[in-house]
Amino acid sequence: NLQDYGHYMLKEIMEQPEAIKRTLKDRLTESGVVIPEVDDFFAKRKLTDPERIIIVASGTSHHAGMIGKKILETMLDIPVEAAIASEFRCEHGRLDEKTLVIAISQSGETADTISALKEAKKSGAAVIAISNYRKSTLARKSDCVIYTHAGPELAVAATKAYTTQITALVLLSIVLAKKLHGSGEGQIPALLDALHSLADDVEKCLVMTQDAIDQFAQVTNDQEHLFLIGRGLDYVLALEGALKLQEVAYLHADAYAAGEMKHGTMALITPGVPVIALATQEHLRDKAINNIKEVKARDAYVVGITTTGDDEVSAVVDEVLYIPEAHPFLMPVLAAIPLQLLAYYAGIVRGYDVDRPRNLAKSLTVE
Ligand code: M6R
Repeated sequence: NLQDYGHYMLKEIMEQPEAIKRTLKDRLTESGVVIPEVDDFFAKRKLTDPERIIIVASGTSHHAGMIGKKILETMLDIPVEAAIASEFRCEHGRLDEKTLVIAISQSGETADTISALKEAKKSGAAVIAISNYRKSTLARKSDCVIYTHAGPELAVAATKAYTTQITALVLLSIVLAKKLHGSGEGQIPALLDALHSLADDVEKCLVMTQDAIDQFAQVTNDQEHLFLIGRGLDYVLALEGALKLQEVAYLHADAYAAGEMKHGTMALITPGVPVIALATQEHLRDKAINNIKEVKARDAYVVGITTTGDDEVSAVVDEVLYIPEAHPFLMPVLAAIPLQLLAYYAGIVRGYDVDRPRNLAKSLTVE
């Protein structure tokens, strides 16, 4: 209950293990994944062979969509695009009956996302929605809805919405890989294992990072800028971390693909500037370490987020935050936890209304 936390945002961050369990309930079984809505959809639409997938969404839901793009592209052998809904509705590439559109919206009422969906339907594309709200406009207008079952999210900042959306996308990717015989089918057993322990791993992240993040938030109090860097899925996560810090702590936080720093942004790295370096993707770790060394050489204050026991990352950063190791596709769920907590504590330290940030609304019903 709210009194235990003081703010909806913290309450909702803490609710994530339970929210994820609800997303997985009755869908994740001992032997695989069952989403009857998706089976019905394929049966009715006879969409046996989509040629491309476009994921449309706004804000944090778009970041979940960008994660989904990388997962679906790896699991299926179909080009996948993650489009910003407000851009997509103005300009988009080819759309037809062979296109599968996945529209993601927590509220299901975001005007930009609904306009994108209408645009897609006009061209004959099939639409699967991922939403948290039954009877929302998005749910009503889509051919199929996968509900996230995150429970009400009242803080303006999306937290459990994001982690449950990624969870739903991973479930969907497993179902689609089976149906479409995607080359990622081989990854399914490992993904199932990771999904079975996901809620517990999120719980561990909360315990492992909360105090250290609370302390680091004090350091950000007199800072004007903060950078987040990462590669691959860690880059997308950096974008989400930056959005949260801008929204809740009014801190100028910017995310960069770590390898891009040398192409311009490195000029902004001065002694003491805080940099959060995400290094959760095992196959990109060596490159991530090189990028960390580059910012350290300019005397940035680097906090590394990596998996438990990674001594190589901890050796090159000022502070390290360990999180449990999971399948790479699920690391953006786990590593989101310290970033959400950072936005929350930084907002509190700076004295802001973390649940109702200025100039923003929970549901954007105008374009
Ligand atoms: O309800 P939606 O998922 O469609 O909302 C989309 C964005 O407005 C939302 O995710 C926004 O970016 C969050 N407040 C960010 O924390």
